[in-house]
Amino acid sequence: MSASLFPQHVIARKRDGHALTREEIAAFVRGATDGSWADYQLSAMLMAIFFRGMTPQETAHFTEAMMRSGFVADLSNVSLPKADKHSTGGVGDKVSLHLAPMVAACGVAVPMISGRGLGHTGGTLDKLESIPGFRVNLSFAEYRAQVEKIGVALIGQTAELAPADKKLYALRDVTGTVECVPLICASILSKKLAEGTQVLVGDVKFGRGAFMKDKAKARELAQTLVSVAHAMGTPMRAVLTAMDEPLGRTVGNALEVAESIDCLKGRGPADTMEVTFVLGEQMLLLAKVAVTKEDARKKLEASVTSGAALQKFRELVAAQGGDVRVVDEPALLPQAKFKVGLAAPRAGFVQDVDALGVALASLELGAGRAKTSDKIDHAVGVSALVKIGERIEVGAPLGVIHANDEKALAEAQAILGKAILVGAAPVAVSTLIDEIIG
Ligand code: URA
Repeated sequence: MSASLFPQHVIARKRDGHALTREEIAAFVRGATDGSWADYQLSAMLMAIFFRGMTPQETAHFTEAMMRSGFVADLSNVSLPKADKHSTGGVGDKVSLHLAPMVAACGVAVPMISGRGLGHTGGTLDKLESIPGFRVNLSFAEYRAQVEKIGVALIGQTAELAPADKKLYALRDVTGTVECVPLICASILSKKLAEGTQVLVGDVKFGRGAFMKDKAKARELAQTLVSVAHAMGTPMRAVLTAMDEPLGRTVGNALEVAESIDCLKGRGPADTMEVTFVLGEQMLLLAKVAVTKEDARKKLEASVTSGAALQKFRELVAAQGGDVRVVDEPALLPQAKFKVGLAAPRAGFVQDVDALGVALASLELGAGRAKTSDKIDHAVGVSALVKIGERIEVGAPLGVIHANDEKALAEAQAILGKAILVGAAPVAVSTLIDEIIG
């Protein structure tokens, strides 16, 4: 190897603010994949990128090298157009569960590789695993065959997919280098573009319950994702959505599955359906099965009213080994021992439902994990949550807490009591969909 590609040399170039060449970036990513760079060298490089940033060209080279560090799926066996959606994660964000079958019912294949929940945000895989028997760890051959046969698969990241990201993400997590736009962009796109989709829609969330609290930073991430995806030949749009209160009325794995099934039956909460339709519209437009937003919306609505999307969800659950009976009998999903309403302390209007507070209450109940090795309890969480602006009578429930442990129940009651505020003045409801980029 040329001395100019030695780790210390490449790290020093980034430390001093230079734009790295494609070869230097490739050496760094190779070092993360084959172990030829030590963890301290990878970490130093991550910190240098954190402070010095990357040009759009460097970010594109970095994303491509990360994607090519592992297996890149070939879904040429699937004749339908292929579209996927990625959310940066929020509280109560169960959209993938019902959006994927809705879009598939409109004639667009959805090959979706999702993640697990970590910290205060939930993960699609954990939600799906609350369906008894549901397998998220399909082999690539099974995934490919399922997308071809029924047009949709929702699986977890395999060890072969973007292994450089797996290594670097674990180091970022413990070195204070997570919140960095080029690192986040390469991390997200390397996995999403390796799964075999042709077009991609991003749901980039901002607000208290989001990973990016600040709207300007979320916009910067959305713009970077869109331009890097385009540079790599994948048309992408990103929707900026607010995440100050939870999405929908449930937070917690099995509870969110039940709410997603409600969405497919045409009785989903208004905010969840709005985000679902806006993301779905962009997927159908990019996949070219609709020519206008109105046309796309009509197709998506029809997939729900005709029952086609619900049928696609049944096919998905059956194909991945899950108990399809949960669709008609949600009581077959894991149930908590205690279901206790949280009474409104006064009559008035709901002033606030702090997404982060609700997430922390759910974490206390056991719905999430603080570190990747933690076990989660699929049954627990909060349902029937009120929404900001709603009128409420004294003593009426602000939400129902599902708990399997009395101590955790008491903790969750205390946290939720502070997260949900009721006051006398009516409240204007803020906009949920902020902007569409790309
Ligand atoms: N999600 C990812 O996959 N990677 C990041 O860096 C942040 C969010």
